[in-house]
Amino acid sequence: MNQNKRILLVISGGIAAYKSLDLIRRMREKGFSVRAILTKGGAEFITPLSVAALTEDKVYTDLFSLTDESEMGHIRLSREADLVVVAPASADLIAKMANGMCNDLASTALLATDKPVMVVPAMNVRMWEHPATQANISTLKSRGVIQVGPTEGAMACGEFGLGRMSEPADIVTAIQDHFKNDTISKQVNGSRLSALVTSGPTHEPIDPVRYIANRSSGRQGHAIAAALAARGIETTLVSGPTDLPDPEGVATIHVETAQEMLDACKSHLNVDVAICAAAVADWRVDHAGNQKIKKQNGLLPELTLTENPDILATLSQAGKERPELVVGFAAETENVVENAVHKRARKSCDWILANDVSPETGTFGGAENLIHFIHDDGVEDWPKMTKQAVAERLADRIVDHFSGREKTSSKDAAE
Ligand code: C5P
Repeated sequence: MNQNKRILLVISGGIAAYKSLDLIRRMREKGFSVRAILTKGGAEFITPLSVAALTEDKVYTDLFSLTDESEMGHIRLSREADLVVVAPASADLIAKMANGMCNDLASTALLATDKPVMVVPAMNVRMWEHPATQANISTLKSRGVIQVGPTEGAMACGEFGLGRMSEPADIVTAIQDHFKNDTISKQVNGSRLSALVTSGPTHEPIDPVRYIANRSSGRQGHAIAAALAARGIETTLVSGPTDLPDPEGVATIHVETAQEMLDACKSHLNVDVAICAAAVADWRVDHAGNQKIKKQNGLLPELTLTENPDILATLSQAGKERPELVVGFAAETENVVENAVHKRARKSCDWILANDVSPETGTFGGAENLIHFIHDDGVEDWPKMTKQAVAERLADRIVDHFSGREKTSSKDAAE
């Protein structure tokens, strides 16, 4: 399966570059063909000759004239690959990638590529933890770049912490997972399946310092987005304020209010499936104050509420723009299934995952969920499981749904 997959390996500067030689060997053992770009920094640690010997190909460095007829241009170099792997990815190269800078062959090829990119960071713990590096890596992830590592351990510089490059065997596993997931989604749709997920609470301002919120942690929605992305589905997450990191490989949009969440969803409506897992506030304060409301001798401020838009219902009733499959959640404290069945009809969504959020269940903000899965053919009671497991199960159902559709349409075509 790996035989016709081509990897473009970018080796940047860092002591971990020595591991890249083992990585090349392991990738080739698994049947990948490997072509390498070695940066000037990388060449301080390993020689072009050893890279060439292991890849059995030319090594591309800044010393090659890429405009020469006998050589290939950086555009071809970056596009004639199925995956670009940057290992080790130095803090410098990550910063260049995040900012679209291109002043050498590696950064130019990375800016020119239209292929999936995997970065495997390797650097000193302080450099890794620096807010600049963290912001850069978040930017890359929000663009769908796959991140592998770093891991924790002793460093060449004598310090200890996060920043070590992942082991070559683990990088190869991540590469294989990437292709496996890519294959699933291609089989499903012929082209890449796409998903939109909402997650987290919304914050509805009362004045510039106060807001109305709820106890949603965003764990369920974030886990769903991660599970979809792990299956090769192009996933956009619209998230209200949470403490969670952006899920890997997911383009994440951060919003505060229900109206902002709706606007972000509407501008990403061209998707195959939408999953509304956010706990959207039902009401917002009409005419939230521009200035902090002051205490006034015991006089209580009057807050008038107005209804927020229903995002799930809006997406479900979006006419020609409606995603083929729209999935909602129903958090209920009583008559869970009955209420959820009505909710599904009222909002016109396809599936509802109903869960009991009465305080004694600990579901809100907790790690587990007890789901009743409501669809056209009835209700399935899922066993109590972690939110992660719910996400995996739902993602599998979504993949099955679109696989089934493909089978049906090819059958129709044959008849
Ligand atoms: O009506 P209720 O809030 O119980 O509906 C829950 C479902 O509707 C969830 O899927 C939630 O994400 C979605 N919802 C929404 N916009 C709202 C309220 C709920 O998308 N304003």
